[in-house]
Amino acid sequence: MKTCYFTATGNCLYVAEQIGGELFSIPQLMKQDRIELYDDAVGIVCPVYGGEMPKMVRRFLSKALIKTNYFFFVNTYGMNDSVAKANAISVSEKNGLRVSYVTSLKMVDNYLPGFEMQQQMDTVADKKIEENLARICKDISERKRNVPSVGIVQKAGMALVHGTMGKVVLNQNAAKKYIVNDSCIRCGICAKVCPADNITVNDIVVFSDHCENCYACLHNCPKNAIHLKNERSTVRFRNEHVTLKDIISANE
Ligand SMILES: Cc1cc2nc3c(=O)[nH]c(=O)nc-3n(C[C@H](O)[C@H](O)[C@H](O)COP(=O)(O)O)c2cc1C
Repeated sequence: MKTCYFTATGNCLYVAEQIGGELFSIPQLMKQDRIELYDDAVGIVCPVYGGEMPKMVRRFLSKALIKTNYFFFVNTYGMNDSVAKANAISVSEKNGLRVSYVTSLKMVDNYLPGFEMQQQMDTVADKKIEENLARICKDISERKRNVPSVGIVQKAGMALVHGTMGKVVLNQNAAKKYIVNDSCIRCGICAKVCPADNITVNDIVVFSDHCENCYACLHNCPKNAIHLKNERSTVRFRNEHVTLKDIISANE
């Protein structure tokens, strides 16, 4: 089994680790000229951004050659997975891939304009993550099939989400809104955790124009020096089972 993941704050890395198999970081696979993944089971674990998959995961699906009898998709999210399951099915189908199993797992929401991070972390027990994750791991190990039908309602929902939330969250260059304050020691960790190679650090931190809006740089800065004008929280989050080193290894 091959499990491919995209992560900014560790939720998806942790889930991918629990599902098991051979783990592949999608940002690292995307640096290869050719991506070929053949196995009895191949899957993707990625966050929900504005009701959809991250832009890079969409590009990954159109670039990768995946051959498997069991293609699974696990979305992690914090508040509302919206049309993420339908989106996973439909984007996969457009790339000639039939999804065998798709599900979503509610975890800490790392969306800084929307949520107070301390409150998110304090109420994490309510989400019953371990219980739900154990069920997902069992389903996948038993190669259970679960594919909700994508009818006219879901299609209309996807178009609406893509035109509204998707535009706000996915199509903007969020890095333009990042503020680096005086606590910055130019350690370069923001550049190392960025899955899009969008950051360079010399005398100052420079953001380029292909930000994935994942907030890895904001959440993983050891000095908490990167901020959003419209953030609801100055507290930062990383999944409790994942270290900064793990995020660097995944995205460098
Ligand atoms: C830009 C952005 C948009 C997000 N949009 C949604 C959303 O539409 N619905 C939701 O429930 N969570 C949303 N989230 C929360 C993430 O999907 C969630 O925290 C995810 O588990 C993070 O995974 P990671 O820790 O592997 O990066 C969003 C997060 C970011 C950064």
